[in-house]
Amino acid sequence: MTEFKMPDTQVKAEFVRTNFDVIASKYDLFNDLNSFFLHRMWKNAIISLIQNSFPNTSLDCLDLCCGTGDISVRLTEMNLSREVYSVDFSEKMLSVAKQRLTGIAKSKQEIGDATNLKNFPDAKFDVVTVGFGLRNVDNLDKALSEIHRVLKPGGLFINLDVGKVKNPLIRIFADFYFFKIVPVLGYLIWGAKNDMFDYLPVSSLSYPDQDNLKSMFEKQKFQLVEYKNFVFGNVAMHWGRKV
Ligand SMILES: C[S@@+](CC[C@H](N)C(=O)[O-])C[C@H]1O[C@@H](n2cnc3c(N)ncnc32)[C@H](O)[C@@H]1O
Repeated sequence: MTEFKMPDTQVKAEFVRTNFDVIASKYDLFNDLNSFFLHRMWKNAIISLIQNSFPNTSLDCLDLCCGTGDISVRLTEMNLSREVYSVDFSEKMLSVAKQRLTGIAKSKQEIGDATNLKNFPDAKFDVVTVGFGLRNVDNLDKALSEIHRVLKPGGLFINLDVGKVKNPLIRIFADFYFFKIVPVLGYLIWGAKNDMFDYLPVSSLSYPDQDNLKSMFEKQKFQLVEYKNFVFGNVAMHWGRKV
């Protein structure tokens, strides 16, 4: 295991924000290589789930912790979407998203904090998506309650993030890859050692497993909560409705 120590809760948000600012220009390349391009397929699964959940509707969508805008772009390409807000608290990550979304009339981008969506009224969105973001927030319950607040009744929340592998043998390989190989891949892409690539695997240790995350959704009043594992549970997509 890497010896990187997670930042304390009081400084986690600042650590995450400033370090995503630092790696923003290399984030997409890192993402493609460390996931063997599979993250694209998982993000496509979010779009399929939305399309299967809302036939013939004009959807107001929020892509929270949007980063460089991978999910936002997919949401704007969906015929069902009317408006797509992309929100992140890292200016540099959001600026990459802005470049990709320039000229798309239904796209709006703004700086914002997932744990305090003060710019958005209650019941504004039909869909909220988060990709690999919740693991980084300093108060997961608060973020889930804010997401629930801004969803319309009947709205759908979809979250994609790392999961926990149950099979002990596969878990040995998965941990070796995530904790030993992924940081080195990050240093190679970045050109030097960088805390962020150690933070990424270590941040998964304090993130709930699939069943506990499902319970946390339910505690924040999401209903019909389900999840789907990808690659033996290394990654999981959770979703739930505001009823
Ligand atoms: C791993 S990236 C994921 C980006 C994108 N969603 C994707 O799937 O490729 C995580 C993003 O979450 C953002 N983030 C983390 N905590 C946040 C918070 N409390 N509020 C807003 N954005 C946050 C980071 O700035 C970063 O851009």
